[in-house]
Amino acid sequence: MRPKFSVPVSTDKPRRDRGSAARAPAKVMPLPNSRPSRIAVLGAGGFIGSHLVPGLVAALDAQIDAVDLTFDKLAPGLPRVNRIQASLSDPGLLDEITARAEIVFSLTALCNPALYNTRPLEVIDASYTDLVPLVRLCAERRRWLIHLSTCEVYGLFALAASGRPAQRMDEERSALCLGPIHRERWTYAAAKQLLERVIWAYGHHHGLPFTVVRPFNVIGPRMDFIPGVDGEGIPRVLAAFMHALLAGQDLILVDGGRQRRSFLAVDEFVDGLLRIVERPDRCQGQIFNLGNDRNDVSIRTLAGSLLSAFHAQRPAAPLPRMRTQSAAAFYGAGYDDSRVRIPAMTKARSLLGWRPRMALDEMLPPIVADYLERYEARMTGEPRIAVPGSP
Ligand code: UGA
Repeated sequence: MRPKFSVPVSTDKPRRDRGSAARAPAKVMPLPNSRPSRIAVLGAGGFIGSHLVPGLVAALDAQIDAVDLTFDKLAPGLPRVNRIQASLSDPGLLDEITARAEIVFSLTALCNPALYNTRPLEVIDASYTDLVPLVRLCAERRRWLIHLSTCEVYGLFALAASGRPAQRMDEERSALCLGPIHRERWTYAAAKQLLERVIWAYGHHHGLPFTVVRPFNVIGPRMDFIPGVDGEGIPRVLAAFMHALLAGQDLILVDGGRQRRSFLAVDEFVDGLLRIVERPDRCQGQIFNLGNDRNDVSIRTLAGSLLSAFHAQRPAAPLPRMRTQSAAAFYGAGYDDSRVRIPAMTKARSLLGWRPRMALDEMLPPIVADYLERYEARMTGEPRIAVPGSP
C-alpha cells in the first residue's frame, strides 16, 4: 500500500508534471548550472518556507514538493506546488521525497529560544535526530541537500580560530563558542552544529552534494505566531514585540535589551537561496552566512524602531512602554544568549554576488502593516495576556 502522503493533499493547478514518484533516482548530482525539474521543500509551511516556495515558483519552472504538517502560511493557488501534509518521521516519506527531487531544501526545526531550555530533547530531535536519515538518503542518491542551519552555531560571540574575540562570524575562520551544558540554551546550536558536521562528512567522504546556509535573524511577515491567537508561548523577538504592540502591553527587553542582532529581510534571504540554486558548481560543498551586517542593532533599538513604525500606522493607539526583565524570569533557568551576531559577508558576496540592501527602518513598516492586517481584528477586545515569565 502506498503511504498516505504519496497522494498530494492539494496540487495547485500544475501547468505540467515533469517529475514522477516512479522515475528512477538519478545516479549523479545535478550538472552544474542545469535547471532542476523537481525540488522538495521540507518545512514549506513555516515562515521561511512560505516565502521560499513562491520564490522558487517565480524563478524556476520546477515542480515543488512542499512538505509540512500545516500550510496555513503558504499562499494558496501556487502553480506546480504539490502540498504533502506529513511529518518527516512518517514511514517512507523521506525515501519517496529523495527518490524524485533533485534538490532537497531542509527547513524543519524547532527554531525558538524559548524551547531550547524547556523542551531540549524535542529540539535536538527536530534539529538533528530526525534529519540524519535525510542526509544519508541524499548522499546515497546524490541529491543536492540545501540545509538551513543557524547563525546560532557561532554561539556567544564571534571568536577567531586563535581563541581571540573577532568582529564577525566567519564561515571559514570562526571557532564555535557554546556555553556550558547546564546552559540548555545551546542544545539547539549544538544539535545544528553536529548535523552540519554530519553533512560535511557525508559531503567530503561519501559524495553528498550539499550546501549549508546559516541565516542571521531573518525577519518578515508570517514570522512565528502571536500568543493567544495562533500559537502559545514566547515567539522570537519580532513577533513578541508585535504581540505586545497589538495587545497594548509593555515590550519586554530581556536583560535590558543591550544584546545585538543583525536583521535581514526575508525577501533578500530568499534571493540568496535562489542564487545558490542557480550556482551548483560554486555552492556545493560550501557553508554560507546569509545576513546583513549593516543592520546590526541592539534589541532596545529594534523595540524603539518597531514602536515608531507602529505609531505611524496607528497614531491613536496607546503607545506601550519598554520594560526590562531578567532572562531567568522571562525564559526560565538554563537560558543564555548571543551578545553580538554580525555575519562575515565576503563569501556570499564573492560566490553568489549577493549583497542585501534593505535597512531595518525600511523593513519594519510593511511588516507592521502585515501584522495589523492579519491580527488586529482577531485581537480586538483581547484581555491582556500575561507575558510568560513576567511577575
Ligand atoms: C533565534 C534562533 O535561536 C536562531 O537560530 C535564529 O537564527 C534566530 O532566532 C533568527 O531569527 O534568525 P535569537 O536571535 O536569540 O535566535 O532569537 P529571538 O527570540 O529573536 O531573540 C533575539 C533577542 O531578543 C534575544 O536576546 C532575546 O533575549 C531578546 N528578546 C526576545 C527580548 O528582549 N524580548 C522579547 O520579548 C523576546
